Amino acid sequence: MRPSAVLFAILALRCYAQDRTTETGEGSIADPQIECSPYNYPPVASQSAAFPTIWQPASILPGDSAAQNLWNTIAPSVPGISPKAPQWTTNSAGFQYSPSDPDCWWSYKQCVTPKLSGLSPDISNVPEPYTTGYGFDDGPNCSHNAFYDYLASKNQKATMYYIGSNVMDWPLEAQRGLADGHEICVHTWSHRYMTSFSSPDAFAELYYSMYYLLYKASVIHNTINRSGRDPSCSPQLHANIPPFGDVDDRIRAIARGLGLQTIIWDYDSNDWRNGMGGITKTQVDSNYETFINMATDGTFSTHGGIMLTHELNNFTMSEAVEFYDKLQGAFKYIVPVGVAYNKTQPYVEKNYTQPTFEQYIKGAAAAPGNGNIGSSGTGGAAGSGSTASQKNGDTARALSWTYAGKLLAVTTAWTLLF
Ligand SMILES: *[C@@H]1O[C@H](CO)[C@@H](O)[C@H](O)[C@H]1NC(C)=O
Ligand SMILES: *[C@@H]1O[C@H](CO)[C@@H](O)[C@H](O)[C@H]1NC(C)=O
Ligand SMILES: *[C@@H]1O[C@H](CO)[C@@H](O)[C@H](O)[C@H]1NC(C)=O
Ligand SMILES: *[C@@H]1O[C@H](CO)[C@@H](O)[C@H](O)[C@H]1NC(C)=O
Ligand SMILES: *[C@@H]1O[C@H](CO)[C@@H](O)[C@H](O)[C@H]1NC(C)=O
Ligand SMILES: [Zn+2]
Repeated sequence: MRPSAVLFAILALRCYAQDRTTETGEGSIADPQIECSPYNYPPVASQSAAFPTIWQPASILPGDSAAQNLWNTIAPSVPGISPKAPQWTTNSAGFQYSPSDPDCWWSYKQCVTPKLSGLSPDISNVPEPYTTGYGFDDGPNCSHNAFYDYLASKNQKATMYYIGSNVMDWPLEAQRGLADGHEICVHTWSHRYMTSFSSPDAFAELYYSMYYLLYKASVIHNTINRSGRDPSCSPQLHANIPPFGDVDDRIRAIARGLGLQTIIWDYDSNDWRNGMGGITKTQVDSNYETFINMATDGTFSTHGGIMLTHELNNFTMSEAVEFYDKLQGAFKYIVPVGVAYNKTQPYVEKNYTQPTFEQYIKGAAAAPGNGNIGSSGTGGAAGSGSTASQKNGDTARALSWTYAGKLLAVTTAWTLLF
């Protein structure tokens, strides 16, 4: 063996001698290819049978009496609205919906004020002026260390809308989100259009994600122990962003039964669409610029905004990094959505807290590590102009509409209601 080959072998060995059993070990890997190679994490792997198949639409598991009993208590308060066109992502042809928007279907006309009584309006912006509710959908992404390192270097917390199936795949990455002080919210189990599900299945999409992500899950605790579920948790979970913003009063009622409030967005960066349907980096850049300009043109003089952005891949995270300083220069405050609403206890476990808005903005100038956990939020902008017929196609994850000067697109998540 030549010396250079020996050196190479040693280097290669060092590269792979990573600790992939702890959040800190996994969080210190710098090579995205290593980060994204699968690992076995026994506390999660050993519990996989207690959760739905990842990346498949969820249903209440046979024999899961805890889930079934909880659903039985929620079902009576769920309105008899029919599912929207079955998986209208791929087949919405022929679907009829009244132009009067009886179900407050966000996907139709960006309705955020439920028509069914007893439901809270969706969160689609933040109350503080010149403020952005900062959040990222679709994580945890396996290659997020560079991005999370960047946020940490800026002492910036965000709301992370995690997909249950991604957490199953990348539990240590999800644990890092919590350890870094971000606010973790539910973004469903399999990332399908929520209004297309039957009610029990929509419940399962939220229930297993919540349970997994936020409650007795590997993210909050290092183990998953479903039998240890605290029966008092049901009315106090978190926020939820519906994928594609696809929520109506039926889905809101199901989320509410789980203690979740819907978070949506009012501007869309369209970052997730890069490379699809003619969307390019130039266009995504311009969407960011538009949002940034709105911070200085008076649009946010009475309340702040939420722009939909993603932890989806290297491109979406790189855009966030590229525009962070400009965003910070234009907005007075960049905070997790839950922080903007003073949600100091975003999780069922009351021993996790995050700062109030006042505390956050004071601490933001101080050393890293202020606050405790992040807040839950969502990002999203409400788009305008989408109709059901526009939603064809598997890639139509978000529809975007451009209005004069405003952009917008859409996403959905849920946050802790109580
Ligand atoms: C799971 O939780 C139950 C109830 O708290 C407890 O009895 C059991 O020992 C736990 N199992 C594990 C593997 O921690
Ligand atoms: C996470 O990001 C990496 C880097 O861009 C990408 O290759 C990978 O497909 C992403 N993972 C998912 C589940 O989208
Ligand atoms: C994007 O990928 C490049 C090449 O792997 C890497 O150097 C960079 O840190 C990544 N950026 C982010 C934000 O993940
Ligand atoms: C958050 O708390 C501050 C005072 O600390 C208050 O001014 C603000 O109105 C509160 N925001 C909400 C949404 O309750
Ligand atoms: C919160 O309490 C749970 C036990 O209920 C514990 O496992 C967890 O480590 C605690 N977290 C913090 C941040 O103290
Ligand atoms: Zn999403």
